[in-house]
Amino acid sequence: MAKFIVNGGNTLEGKVKINGAKNAALPILAAALLADSPSVLKDIPNLRDVSNLCEIIRGMGATVNRSGHSVEIDPSDLNTYETDKELAKKLRASYYILGVMLSKYGEARTALPGGCNIGNRPIDLHLKGFKALGAEVSLNHGIVEVKADKLVGDKIYLDYPSVGATINIMLAASLAEGKTVIENAAREPELVDLANFLTVMGAKIKGVGTDIIKIEGVNKLEGKEHRIIPDRIEAGTYMIAAALTKGDVFVKNVLTEHIKSLIAKLHEMGLEMVEDISGVRVKGNGKLDSVDVKTLPYPGFPTDLQSQMMVLLTQTEGTSIIKETVWENRFMHVDELKRMGADITIDGHSALIRESSLSGAEVTVTDLRAGAALVLAGLIGDGKSEVRKIHHVERGYEGIEKKLSSLGADIKRVK
Ligand code: EPZ
Repeated sequence: MAKFIVNGGNTLEGKVKINGAKNAALPILAAALLADSPSVLKDIPNLRDVSNLCEIIRGMGATVNRSGHSVEIDPSDLNTYETDKELAKKLRASYYILGVMLSKYGEARTALPGGCNIGNRPIDLHLKGFKALGAEVSLNHGIVEVKADKLVGDKIYLDYPSVGATINIMLAASLAEGKTVIENAAREPELVDLANFLTVMGAKIKGVGTDIIKIEGVNKLEGKEHRIIPDRIEAGTYMIAAALTKGDVFVKNVLTEHIKSLIAKLHEMGLEMVEDISGVRVKGNGKLDSVDVKTLPYPGFPTDLQSQMMVLLTQTEGTSIIKETVWENRFMHVDELKRMGADITIDGHSALIRESSLSGAEVTVTDLRAGAALVLAGLIGDGKSEVRKIHHVERGYEGIEKKLSSLGADIKRVK
């Protein structure tokens, strides 16, 4: 198992370039299969989740050629609507294949993706949407199967603005007959990016980015070229790293309108930031003030930046409260941070954070964003930290140790 060795205390300075967004790339890679001709996708990040999804797509007969951050997908030779079970379990986003294959072939089958340990990751809202469009859904021995002679548009109310369910329904409705309306839809920027790609391919979608999405089914979609939006969560992670180490970092390739909630919170804490067209400059200055944070669906504070923000809040004067409202078990980083001396008390879905000085320790990563938080903690922890099970981190951060080293961090990846 690979691990990171981090020696804390260095200030981060310089420029870091953000990659394309993982959570936009995954549904867009799947959406390319809806067309009958090739698509070229640019700014696809080199991440394990992306490689696994490309493997799943190749296993279904499509051609996938990657060079650098570009991926060409030619779906002409697709020969099945079923994903490779073992691969599908490795990657939650494999369930996007359901919406795509249901839409294109009227049938789809995939292994229920492994529950990530931040919550039990149900897909009931995805299946509710498929049923509303006329599909029969069955769940046997961990295999999800959806079938429909014909998909017909309908109105679907999402009990929770689920990102995945909104995406899957949009994928299924694109080639369905008639009109579909998704109410209480998710509004995440990655959804808007997917809808932009589908629209260029010929889909008729209105209202993405609001809580009411209207889709008029079409007969076919054309493969097109598309550039993925920057990863707002990767960007936020490096902005917090700059603040933590009292550094001076230009985070390049950021759409700051996608992280208004983080920027507002960092301003409230007294952090100096300068936004420009191509990114944002973060200058860590004196003591930061404590603030309270509540994670919410977009445009609220993103749950995927909660653990990273928690590390920053240990460095502020006073007491902060984080309330995690999206996932039921997303405080697994707390125990590890406490091993480094963090003064954090959990009460249900809230965490109370007091000013603490962190010292290096051996810590273990439990999930992707918890891992990012532990790396950040290592940057300021006094002495050496060993961050283990970093494969979780490499699912969502391309070259994190290289990017941090180029900013002056003392971090190495060892087997
Ligand atoms: C996406 O997950 C992201 N993953 C997550 O990022 C992110 O945390 C999440 O959205 C929220 O922003 C990808 O895009 C690949 P949800 P998703 O469906 O789609 C409940 C990361 O670190 N729910 O919006 O699975 C669910 O239990 C990952 O990059 C249902 O009840 O999130 C949860 O409480 C982690 N029924 C809430 O909705 C359903 O059918 C949010 O889930 C689906 C979801």
